[in-house]
Amino acid sequence: MQLTIFGTGYVGLVLAAVLADAGNKVTCVDVDAAKIENLKLGIVPIYEPGLEALIIRNRDAGRLTFSTDPREAVEFGEIIFIAVGTPTDEDGSADLKYVLAVASTIGRVMENDRIVVTKSTVPVGTADQVEAAIKRELASRGRDDLSLDVVSNPEFLKEGAAVADCQKPDRIVLGIRAGGSATERTLRELYAPFNRNHEKIIVMDVRSAELTKYAANCLLATKISFMNEIANLADRLGADVESVRLGIGSDPRIGNQFIYPGAGYGGSCFPKDVRALISMGRGVNFEPLITEAVERRNQLQKQVIFEKIVSRLGADLRGRTFALWGLAFKPNTDDMREAPSRVVIDSLLAAGATVRAYDPKAMEECGRIYRGREGLVFCASQEQALTGADALVVMTEWKEFQSPDLKLLGDSLRERLVFDGRNIYDPSSLARHGLTLCGIGRAV
Ligand code: UGA
Repeated sequence: MQLTIFGTGYVGLVLAAVLADAGNKVTCVDVDAAKIENLKLGIVPIYEPGLEALIIRNRDAGRLTFSTDPREAVEFGEIIFIAVGTPTDEDGSADLKYVLAVASTIGRVMENDRIVVTKSTVPVGTADQVEAAIKRELASRGRDDLSLDVVSNPEFLKEGAAVADCQKPDRIVLGIRAGGSATERTLRELYAPFNRNHEKIIVMDVRSAELTKYAANCLLATKISFMNEIANLADRLGADVESVRLGIGSDPRIGNQFIYPGAGYGGSCFPKDVRALISMGRGVNFEPLITEAVERRNQLQKQVIFEKIVSRLGADLRGRTFALWGLAFKPNTDDMREAPSRVVIDSLLAAGATVRAYDPKAMEECGRIYRGREGLVFCASQEQALTGADALVVMTEWKEFQSPDLKLLGDSLRERLVFDGRNIYDPSSLARHGLTLCGIGRAV
């Protein structure tokens, strides 16, 4: 098939590369000309395992092209995906200006029947708005004769595992309008290579598909915030949340996934989608009490590590130096959007401390966010970050942080303190090297 994808962010790029790799011809459109020129050269703006190789391979095979010309792109693809960003508006709602701008553009240049698929995470009712925006433009050009079908097909990939998730989805949700059986057939054909072994396609109405995406992310965020709540209780009641996690996760009704307590969830999805669901609820005069609490708990959770530092070392941290391992909101990405590390960095700097930061992939991104900030030192390795430090703070569970040289830690850290924002260390191993571990929900 010939496909067009608007937006070359995480979702758009990964989808384009994976669909091209399945044998389709895909063109990606973006308004950012520099980004498109770079992509043509094989320069990928984000770090995502396997993505660059996949893009280059399919570009070289002539299946993947990049363009800034919407007319050419809409002409090209029989299915057009909208995968542009939906940033959070001031009131917490998703800002649809980019999605609706793409819709209007499609309506202005469309000359043939098209299926338009919303891939971005968009509030319930957006597909209707997209359809209205396209139809408005078609009507103003006297082209109401063209057939248009708007489908909601949310993406469930995770950053850091985006290519693999997209190639092997758990489910493919298709929100299709009544009477859209021809559209359903076309999309089933498109997704057939990803629908082997057992049926993964779930067809439903458009609004349910849109809500499914928010329900999934908000339930996962709820699991995390709930565990963080239990961790806070464990701290105060003298229990170890890691034992509790194992104790409850073995019940298959609860499950072992997404119950890892930590320094709070970050990223471009959970925080944004939780706020958007709250805003959607309020928009229909409904108070989403559970989701509001999830958001509030997460805000507080991001401060827990700093609070632990203060309770050990006092509120005045002038003259203190902290090694900080892990800046990205999770491993295998360079993404620092809403990363808990940022709250810790900001709080430490505000208290007068020096922070020596290291991350395997996010140094450049950290430089972009914090360039010129006094007190923040960018280090070339995890060992270098330890130089002259009083304590170590770990904010991301990168593999390379999991088995550190404990002797080196003991020799380097003046206060022999390790603040573990992801509970990756064993308190007794650290204790054998004279180190005190302050984790999340471990009563220290
Ligand atoms: C999330 C969802 O997992 C994807 O299914 C969804 O498609 C995506 O959002 C999206 O909407 O695009 P992502 O934000 O990439 O994916 O990352 P996750 O792996 O879900 O992690 C999110 C945050 O939760 C991270 O900060 C992570 O450290 C934290 N987390 C995760 C915990 O604190 N505890 C856990 O047990 C799991």
